[in-house]
Amino acid sequence: MNLTSAKLRTLEKAARAAAKKAYCPYSEFPVGAAVLSLSGMTYRGCNVENASFGLCNCAERTALFSAVAAGERKITAVAIYTPTQTATAPCGACRQALNEFSDGMLVISTCDSRDRIERPLAELLPASFGPPNLNAKSLK
Ligand code: THU
Repeated sequence: MNLTSAKLRTLEKAARAAAKKAYCPYSEFPVGAAVLSLSGMTYRGCNVENASFGLCNCAERTALFSAVAAGERKITAVAIYTPTQTATAPCGACRQALNEFSDGMLVISTCDSRDRIERPLAELLPASFGPPNLNAKSLK
């Protein structure tokens, strides 16, 4: 599926809407994310924090795991939104989690200014470790 700018704009709007659901009483840093699957479906996620801080889950992984739980295995794009003046790139853990299901994934970070990050995941996570390293059957 080719990534038209209209599809990406819709994905960006979904990420912005998802941030409204963020549960972030500790950081007060709401994040929204939306992933686009190869099949054309969109899945939203927000960060979900916990009083036991180590259990906090990022918006990107919430959206990704929602897609995987729905049966998706290939993700072509992810949009991330933070209510900030500079765009927020996904954390290292999320880059690795996204890599597992990447199909030439494009990562877009948007915010409340015109600042944005738009780069292939492969650039944000070079020389990555992933399913091919384990000769994983699920992706063959
Ligand atoms: N967070 C995300 O949701 N995505 C990121 O890429 C970076 C950080 C969340 C985790 C935590 O709830 C809050 O932002 C502050 O780190």
